[in-house]
Amino acid sequence: MKSSVVHPLLFLLLSYFTSEAYKPVIIVHGLFDGPKQFKALTGFIQKAHPGTEVTALNLFNDLLSLRPLWTQVKSFRSALESRLNRTKDGAHLLCFSQGGLICRALLSVIPNHNIHSFIALSSPLAGQYGGTDYLKKIFPKTLKRDVYKLCYWTFGQGMSICQYWNDPHHRDKYLKYSNFLAMINGEKEHKDTDVWRKNFLRIKKLVLIGGPDDGVITPWQSSHFGFYNSNETVVEMRNQQFYGSDAFGLKTLDARGDVSVCEQSGVKHVQWHNNHSVFTSCIQDWLV
Ligand SMILES: *[C@@H]1O[C@H](CO)[C@@H](O)[C@H](O)[C@H]1NC(C)=O
Ligand SMILES: *[C@@H]1O[C@H](CO)[C@@H](O)[C@H](O)[C@H]1NC(C)=O
Ligand SMILES: *[C@@H]1O[C@H](CO)[C@@H](O)[C@H](O)[C@H]1NC(C)=O
Repeated sequence: MKSSVVHPLLFLLLSYFTSEAYKPVIIVHGLFDGPKQFKALTGFIQKAHPGTEVTALNLFNDLLSLRPLWTQVKSFRSALESRLNRTKDGAHLLCFSQGGLICRALLSVIPNHNIHSFIALSSPLAGQYGGTDYLKKIFPKTLKRDVYKLCYWTFGQGMSICQYWNDPHHRDKYLKYSNFLAMINGEKEHKDTDVWRKNFLRIKKLVLIGGPDDGVITPWQSSHFGFYNSNETVVEMRNQQFYGSDAFGLKTLDARGDVSVCEQSGVKHVQWHNNHSVFTSCIQDWLV
């Protein structure tokens, strides 16, 4: 008699602690911002999925976000690993703008990570060439066609934005000097290329979010791994060389059916994480 009562109760308890517990969400902010910009998004997540633990990592905020990306990756790595070490069933990583590149690097260098969904929210994943306001803040008097002169030399690479500046008219210099983007995107072979690909492929889902009214990410298709060719014509992800050669695992992920592309119009760069309709259309379903 007794066991027939215990059984359904145990079942209820188990389903409460397993299927109904949402995985923690860890957020990495973008250039010139920090955790406080993610209050609305945190609210959206916790309303849709009550009980979700959301952590926006509090490192390299505001102007400090210009620091060299590998320096940032090192600190974000220990923060992320110590958070992941406290999770049993893994977590989701949601990364905004420049943060998406930091996350790409984290997922490449951390072995045995247990990130399920990697959501890149308007990130210049294939690089940046242009970008009105941000560019003016950093290089007030420089035209975009001249930025390469500041970025493509050893000291230029000491500033984050230079590390993903991708000038389609100076590809040889980009490949020679870019010590970050060209490496994580496997455009430049290095001794860890294979290990990084293997680590990156541990994610279960890659979610790429961006749109034509962004106004900062240039070309906006970079948020979907598209980029300019030498004529400044946008070549989409599947026709990119790094895709064809599966340089960092993108083609494999796509063949697995694990790349989700979400395009939204009418969203300015600083609005992506505050927009509830972006949350319900592109993000919510991947945070379970
Ligand atoms: C997390 O766990 C891994 C593996 O057990 C360990 O190597 C690493 O030092 C831990 N990291 C932190 C920051 O606690
Ligand atoms: C660039 O445009 C020129 C002239 O329209 C064309 O001949 C050339 O093939 C194009 N190059 C690329 C890489 O698309
Ligand atoms: C919010 O996103 C929707 C698309 O999902 C867009 O049409 C709308 O203009 C956006 N609103 C703001 C304020 O960004």
